[in-house]
Amino acid sequence: MATIINGKEVAAKVREEVRQECVRLGEMGITPGLAVIIVGDDPASRVYVNNKKKACEEVGFISEEYALPAETTQEELLALIDRLNSKPDIDGILCQLPLPKHLDEKAVIHAIDPSKDVDAFHPSNVGKIMIGDYDFLPCTPAGVMELIHSAGIEVSGKNCVVIGRSNIVGKPMAMLLLHENATVTICHSRTRNLKEICAAADILVAAVGKPKFVTADMVKDGAVVLDVGINRDENGKLCGDVDFDAVAPKASFITPVPGGVGPMTIAMLMKNTLKAATLH
Ligand code: GUN
Repeated sequence: MATIINGKEVAAKVREEVRQECVRLGEMGITPGLAVIIVGDDPASRVYVNNKKKACEEVGFISEEYALPAETTQEELLALIDRLNSKPDIDGILCQLPLPKHLDEKAVIHAIDPSKDVDAFHPSNVGKIMIGDYDFLPCTPAGVMELIHSAGIEVSGKNCVVIGRSNIVGKPMAMLLLHENATVTICHSRTRNLKEICAAADILVAAVGKPKFVTADMVKDGAVVLDVGINRDENGKLCGDVDFDAVAPKASFITPVPGGVGPMTIAMLMKNTLKAATLH
């Protein structure tokens, strides 16, 4: 039976480190500030934004929420970002995705000053990650790496398989594993022999967005399994991309959903905002 990696505990430790560092910055007259933009009333986004604001308060940051109506125009949103780019007490800007369909996410990501881009979504930051010379790491992949480190798992030389190729998780996840000298395979919807490739992984990261997609036959005995998914199962219960009950007996380490990768994303956002405050 796998050891369960407790993301809540690791995230609390990261947030505590950030809180202590925030006290130290405070003595130098610096208080990190995060602006969170939410457009429309997507209930999941509302929960995420509330959790981000709560985490800011807990670590001692200033947080400003900009809740805009669903019918906000592209021009209005870009004008707000422009204003926040030049607002001296704001170090980080986060625009919660997804945006309503009429808005251009790419243009919004481009508009955020890269030095305030605490999501690390701007092409300039994405490029820096690619060459391994970065200020910010994308929060979810960085959170997964932190969980791997917390469990004392060695990455170097391991076969790592990432299922999912999104710009937010899959691609940067693969890059961070590569930086630690893993042999990395990215699988996606067109991958042939998905089961065989996954079953050869020493470290398997699931970021597909499909409930219980990873079944026991896709996991090698003793593999480390990290589950980025947040889905609802057929009974409406929160579940990951991994069939936890079936996979846990085979794995050496596994992250649960909830309480695994999820809490890490916000903890790493706090780390990025702290970093941004030291850059300004
Ligand atoms: N929507 C889902 N995850 C994220 C995230 O990490 N950042 C932002 N801005 N939006 C998201």
